[in-house]
Amino acid sequence: MAGLFDPYALKGVTLRNRIAVPPMCQYMAEEGRATEWHRVHYASLARGGAGLVVVEATAVSPEGRITWADLGLWNDAQASALAPIVEGIRAAGAVPGIQIGHAGRKASANRPWEGDDHIPLGQPRAWETLAPSPLAFGKALSRVPRALTLDEIGRIQADTVAAARRARDLGFQWLQLHMAHGYLAQEFFSPLANHRTDAYGGSAENRARFLIETFRAVREVWPEDRVLNVRLGVVEFHGDDEALFRESADLLNRMKEAGLDFVDVSMGFNTPEAQIPWGPGMLLPVTGRMREATGLPVGTSWNLSHDPREADALLREGRLDLYTLGRTFLDDPHWPFHAARELGFEDAAARTLPPPYAHWISRYR
Ligand code: FNR
Repeated sequence: MAGLFDPYALKGVTLRNRIAVPPMCQYMAEEGRATEWHRVHYASLARGGAGLVVVEATAVSPEGRITWADLGLWNDAQASALAPIVEGIRAAGAVPGIQIGHAGRKASANRPWEGDDHIPLGQPRAWETLAPSPLAFGKALSRVPRALTLDEIGRIQADTVAAARRARDLGFQWLQLHMAHGYLAQEFFSPLANHRTDAYGGSAENRARFLIETFRAVREVWPEDRVLNVRLGVVEFHGDDEALFRESADLLNRMKEAGLDFVDVSMGFNTPEAQIPWGPGMLLPVTGRMREATGLPVGTSWNLSHDPREADALLREGRLDLYTLGRTFLDDPHWPFHAARELGFEDAAARTLPPPYAHWISRYR
């Protein structure tokens, strides 16, 4: 089996290695537009040597932002602001990806370092939150959302397709649909957040309807030769997780038939009451089960080891197709270089870093 530094090809996309940076919100946008912060941030991550860099959760509509400082892709000005980011990632040798989504009842919050809580309605930066049902998440996110009408559901799906088109036209090669972490798609999927009695609520099939419809609509506009990836919360650590796993596997198998290329296995985050067993590689067992249940290529994150030998071994054992590290990259954007050096690659610097860095690191020895 291939290791950390073997290329990875899926559809018409080839990554130079199997190291992926997952979406990580920066909360530094202006009216949904990327700023200088994003240009430096994403180019730095790509220059560090990752194979895939996925741009943070980008909202398909204004009310779908987690905070007022989220990226958006509902207008052309926002698309233009993302163009240099695509180019910065590509020029550094990584494949540019993007995650698009809608925050549902978790929207209209303060930035994490400014409270991480709902902004009370009536304050200048607040807006009305929309969700499948008028149920609050709880704790710091206590606002009760307004239940979406059928028209509004259709509008958000159309917004998602429009954002996917813009991502396509910008040249992103890897599109990730955010269907995890207690945001809108995951809210539809979860009985904890969805108490609807129409075609979008109730049975597992009805709760999956928003997700599969949105997926199919995006697949129609997303090019066949690029990767379409879903991030799904398949475990909640609360309530009947076996039922959630089965429903998730069924949904992913249906999406696979409809053209899903890759799944990122993640958590539901639909309730603050979940008893999450934080620990090293804690989602690896459920990720392995999902790979078996669907036959899809898989990735996961959440406390994967930053020891390159462990990373390489997990790939060689065939337990993961990509190795995804989030906070490790915030700590050390040149992790791929350090990993290659530790794994004994003679050309570690040239293999991972751009010439203006690699040349000097290898000289004067
Ligand atoms: C995240 N995470 C995240 N997930 C996601 O699907 N979309 C997003 O935009 C974000 N934003 C985000 C911001 C920041 C600052 C962090 C730290 C995390 C979750 C992220 O993709 C990843 O799953 C976690 O960081 C866990 O992986 P690590 O950090 O343990 O390797």
